[in-house]
Amino acid sequence: MKNLKIFENLSELSKFAAEQFISIGNKKIDKNGRFVVALSGGSTPKILYNFLLSDEFKEKIDWEKVFFFFSDERDVSPISEKSNFRMANEQFLKPLKISKSNIFRWHTEIINAVEVAESYERSIVKFFNLSNGKFPQFDLIFLGMGDDGHTVSLFPFTKALNETESIVISNYVEKLDTNRLTFTYPTINNAANVIFLVAGKDKAAALKEVLKGEKNCEKFPSQCIKLADGKLLWLADEEAASLIK
Ligand code: 6PG
Repeated sequence: MKNLKIFENLSELSKFAAEQFISIGNKKIDKNGRFVVALSGGSTPKILYNFLLSDEFKEKIDWEKVFFFFSDERDVSPISEKSNFRMANEQFLKPLKISKSNIFRWHTEIINAVEVAESYERSIVKFFNLSNGKFPQFDLIFLGMGDDGHTVSLFPFTKALNETESIVISNYVEKLDTNRLTFTYPTINNAANVIFLVAGKDKAAALKEVLKGEKNCEKFPSQCIKLADGKLLWLADEEAASLIK
């Protein structure tokens, strides 16, 4: 598969992802004067953040021109241990002293998940100056994949998989018995670049189904990340790719 790169381990994978961030980012800054990126949740991106914070990378981009969004969030306080914002903020954004005006988080302090999603949608529409019915084009969206083939908070057999009009949506996930907040397929598939980071043997079975299995996006939601015009790249370590010949 041309858009799948396999790495010996997560560190090598993360270093390549950091190189992609800098390369795509500087091209977008040269072209548009800014780089608009959406960070994924989960734990996989931690080593990527360490690389971007390191002396090898942190001077290679003008951080004042980088704008950060979050492709999904848990319905928890922004200071909760479970918050995707908190992990990225503590591990990446705060150490880099990214200005608060360059960070657009989900306002999960709003109690009602639907209102959180509506608020985030308004902030995206305003930032991209979107006319009605249009979707934003993020320059880069990082995605993770769960061992059930979910991505962002598009979980198997959930309502959000069928959303075609909203940019973001709240999504009740029965197996977690909780609301999640997520980009929708049209938003992700409109991106200029999407990079999946997938590591660990527990992801191997799902990755094989997503990349090589029969098409069933209800069961394996990551299958339906198919970019209209953009570039999709899967980065996997050898453990996650162990069932893909
Ligand atoms: C989340 C994520 C989710 C995550 C995958 C992989 O909120 O948890 O958005 O889609 O990216 O579950 O998570 P890990 O990187 O922790 O394996």
